[in-house]
Amino acid sequence: MPVSDSAIIILGASGDLAKRKLIPALERLFHKKEIDDTCRVIGSGRTPFSHDSFRAHFDRDREFSQLLYYHQGIEGIREFVYALKNFKRIIIFFSLPPKVYADTSEALYKEGFRDETTLIIEKPFGYDLDSARQLNADLQRCFNELQIFRIDHYLAKEAVQNILVFRFANAIFYPVWNSRYIESIQINALEDIGVEDRGAYFDGAGIIRDMVQNHLMQLLSLLTMEAPVNLEAEEIRIQKMQILKALEIKRWAKMQYQGYHDEKGVPQNSKTETYAELEMTINNFRWNGIPVYIRTGKAVHRKGTEIGIRFKKGPQLLYNTAGQIPPNQIIFNIQPDAGILMDFMAREPGGSGRISSTNMTFCYSNSFLDAEIPEAYQKLLLDAIRGDRTLFISAEETELSWEKFAPTLQDETPGTYERGTLPPSPLGIDWIDFDKYGSACRLD
Ligand code: BG6
Repeated sequence: MPVSDSAIIILGASGDLAKRKLIPALERLFHKKEIDDTCRVIGSGRTPFSHDSFRAHFDRDREFSQLLYYHQGIEGIREFVYALKNFKRIIIFFSLPPKVYADTSEALYKEGFRDETTLIIEKPFGYDLDSARQLNADLQRCFNELQIFRIDHYLAKEAVQNILVFRFANAIFYPVWNSRYIESIQINALEDIGVEDRGAYFDGAGIIRDMVQNHLMQLLSLLTMEAPVNLEAEEIRIQKMQILKALEIKRWAKMQYQGYHDEKGVPQNSKTETYAELEMTINNFRWNGIPVYIRTGKAVHRKGTEIGIRFKKGPQLLYNTAGQIPPNQIIFNIQPDAGILMDFMAREPGGSGRISSTNMTFCYSNSFLDAEIPEAYQKLLLDAIRGDRTLFISAEETELSWEKFAPTLQDETPGTYERGTLPPSPLGIDWIDFDKYGSACRLD
């Protein structure tokens, strides 16, 4: 059933996000009949637009454009929206700088928006524990937690959503998914581009705030949590919280690419890290302190996000007694070429008696040939419009995560690395050779 009689309000609608992502995503949802023509999309911002010039600004197809309206500023917006129609639900997307989230939610409340309203906000959800608490308290003064949808776009990635399916729909993996069989968990999230035009924002954050505290913790939680009793958002949230509670950050190292100081918006003496490596543990019964390694950086040699599960070695009695048998590994290629690989040993043909490492590979591009993978905003907007909180982050999760990361957020003088290269591990970690696996599902 398509969603009907809902108003989707975009605050900050003249900005880049609305043009690049939100409006195209809503148009696709409309054409896929996920939302019907009883819905309206109302833009709001400081720029003066007529309804027609607002429609023209996006240049989408005629049928969809008819659903678009514009109201300048927040004052009077509720009256305007309800003059269009008596909507059942109101979804308000904050495409705004985070510093105005609190005032905006208050203004919306004063306008009269109440229980029928859902607010969608994007990170950063605060800057540290105190600011995150303050933001949550400010938002919750006007709207209750179940009305606040905090986006983490990593959760909308198809290969991320598949992690729970891999773990809980495949009986062969349950027995080995613990510290008895697994030696380490490794998360690798790399980007080849630098901070580009986001220097001013990024410099106030650093890669631990920008990537690790939120996106990569979500990946880790899905990978390591206990099975929820069902797939309700609340049950999954409870299990993810248990992982955050048991998390201990043991060591970290920060680095900065050479030339970062010359980026627009970055001060000459900045100590902000553009690369970080962390060692953590999860102190619970299942994981019992085995290492979790995380590495993420900008301006390194390639873009790619992978998760590696390295298994402990079996007894080395029969084969390669002189050399090493490489460990079995499972690699989740999250992006850009999504898939899963499993390393294992095979006998080399012929009489050499040698064995070598090979792998089994699942690639989305081969297995689901005609499947369309929805773009993140399309998925997230539809879930929020439908009121499904599964892929959204709770206040409690953001606060607990900030609390755990507090020690890593202090200013430290970072080491440096050459732009376009992956620095040698500053913590001396024995990293899985992710470069070898990252391209396994590449089509060209
Ligand atoms: C954003 C960060 O949340 O995620 C960016 O603010 C980062 O700095 C981006 O580049 C990475 O997202 P993706 O989907 O390209 O891996």
